[in-house]
Amino acid sequence: MGAALELTEITLPDPGPGQVRVKLAAAGVCHSDLSLATGVLRAATPVVLGHEGAGTVVAVGEGVSKVAVGDPVVLNWAPACGHCHLCELGEPWLCENSYAASVETYAALADGTGVYPGLGVAAFAAETVVSESAVIPLPQGVPLDAAALLGCAVLTGYGAVHNAARVREGESAVVFGLGGVGLAVLQGLRIAGAGPIVAVDVTPEKEELARRHGATEFVVADDQTAKTVRKLTGGHGTDHAFECVGRSTTIRAAWNSTRRGGRTTVVGIGSKDDQVAFNALEIFHFARTLTACVYGDGVPDRDVPLLAEHVRAGRLDLDALITDRITLDDIPAAFDRMREGKGGRSLIVF
Ligand code: APR
Ligand code: ZN
Repeated sequence: MGAALELTEITLPDPGPGQVRVKLAAAGVCHSDLSLATGVLRAATPVVLGHEGAGTVVAVGEGVSKVAVGDPVVLNWAPACGHCHLCELGEPWLCENSYAASVETYAALADGTGVYPGLGVAAFAAETVVSESAVIPLPQGVPLDAAALLGCAVLTGYGAVHNAARVREGESAVVFGLGGVGLAVLQGLRIAGAGPIVAVDVTPEKEELARRHGATEFVVADDQTAKTVRKLTGGHGTDHAFECVGRSTTIRAAWNSTRRGGRTTVVGIGSKDDQVAFNALEIFHFARTLTACVYGDGVPDRDVPLLAEHVRAGRLDLDALITDRITLDDIPAAFDRMREGKGGRSLIVF
């Protein structure tokens, strides 16, 4: 499944009531885009991918009050409706309507065929049209291009640590998978004052990058990874594990790496054909927690200003996450680097 990548012209409508048109400054290439392109994650096609973006508002539709023309914004790929069962329970990151925009066409090809916005925001394009709920005003002091990363990798990775796992100072943690998301988790752990912070990847070349983002130990993944991690933590295992790959083997290894009573937070998005197995006794014996985290279990409108404050204070280093600055034509090469486990984030700069 999946579909071929193509660079083509689309016609965007004027923003309707409650919508805004954004001129993209930059967009990050996330593994979820690759998963959508290959069909591991389903998307209606033709689709404009890209969900980690930032840019400037160039037009607003009727009734828009959140932003004005000229405002810098970060795109939010899972805007909450505010009134469904889960929003009312206070868990807007699980909003039942957050994917509503991605199932309707928003633009057209030259022959009139409707085009879908990948994950609702369609950031791999010079401009996009989204609901005002899908833009977050960007506070001053954050470079607009690097701010794109706030829209997925950083909200997700930082939120996994601070909103989902609620890591406290001095707690130990291990992170599996050091792409943009895993590296953002490492920075979140550094900000939390966690330690030791163990980073795990199949690619040995990730060590330097991992240490630059806060890892105090680096382990090349093999079938003994959990044992190695436990050894690094006095034989106990870590308080926390973060899975940022999206595979059953790394979910298992993450769980096995934690101490009795430890907590594993799954951030990676896997395939429905990939089963994870646990025996009934170990669940009881280890009394561990296994949980997933969606978009950092956060509230983007609340969390982006907080992240911007970390950037301004020098605690959060967005530039370190960006290892390649590219153009739209280079997306296939960015996907190849991702398949080979090379680098951090590739950032498309418009
Ligand atoms: N053990 C450890 N690391 C692994 C393994 C493994 N078995 N297999 C792959 N990796 C590493 C890769 O080498 C790479 O460094 O996982 C990293 C994944 O990084 P990216 O492909 O850049 O993915 P990223 O965009 O960070 O997303 C990670 O989060 O949002 C989800 O869909 C996304 O599931 C994906 C995950
Ligand atoms: Zn993403």
